[in-house]
Amino acid sequence: MEMVGEPGRPTASVLVCYASRYGSTREIAECIAEVLRTSGTHADCIPAGRDIRPSGYDAVVLGSPLYMGKWLAEIRELISRERVALGRVPVAVFSVGYSFRDRSNQVLQSGEDALLDVRLYILPRDSAFFAGRVECGAVSPSDRAILTLAGITEGDFRDMEMVRSWARTLPGILGLG
Ligand SMILES: Cc1cc2nc3c(=O)[nH]c(=O)nc-3n(C[C@H](O)[C@H](O)[C@H](O)COP(=O)(O)O)c2cc1C
Repeated sequence: MEMVGEPGRPTASVLVCYASRYGSTREIAECIAEVLRTSGTHADCIPAGRDIRPSGYDAVVLGSPLYMGKWLAEIRELISRERVALGRVPVAVFSVGYSFRDRSNQVLQSGEDALLDVRLYILPRDSAFFAGRVECGAVSPSDRAILTLAGITEGDFRDMEMVRSWARTLPGILGLG
């Protein structure tokens, strides 16, 4: 989709589509969309459960938290369903997880491994890994049981400057000129 921004200069249009169970990934997606808008790009930020049409956009950014080592089902289903449209536009992806507080190659590689399900359908130009937020009091009893079993320390480990810094590279990565 091309929209007219400055006279004679088309504005690129980007879809930022995310899954989020408890809101921390939604806030990261909104931050990415905001940075894109600041750079003069039109950006829509939409949750994956809705009726999404990637074909109307010049590029797509997809993101999900990891739950038990996987992206959430609703965004994996969207990617599978819309794989043809997603194959026609540049795509970048981001993953959010407790584990990404640790920036070691081993942990980042485990993040890449978790994307294998996603890479069955699309070939992202870039993948980012951001630390997430864990709030034991705010999650469902079954999720709380998993957090307790795993001995996970709660806290908001998000680094929004890291998110903004990646988002600023997206116009270049996605070839938005
Ligand atoms: C039940 C459960 C399982 C999780 N599994 C993982 C995991 O496998 N890897 C990881 O890095 N983080 C894991 N996390 C942490 C979440 O990815 C993190 O809290 C994220 O910020 C949640 O995103 P949301 O608020 O958008 O749902 C898990 C959290 C819960 C509650």
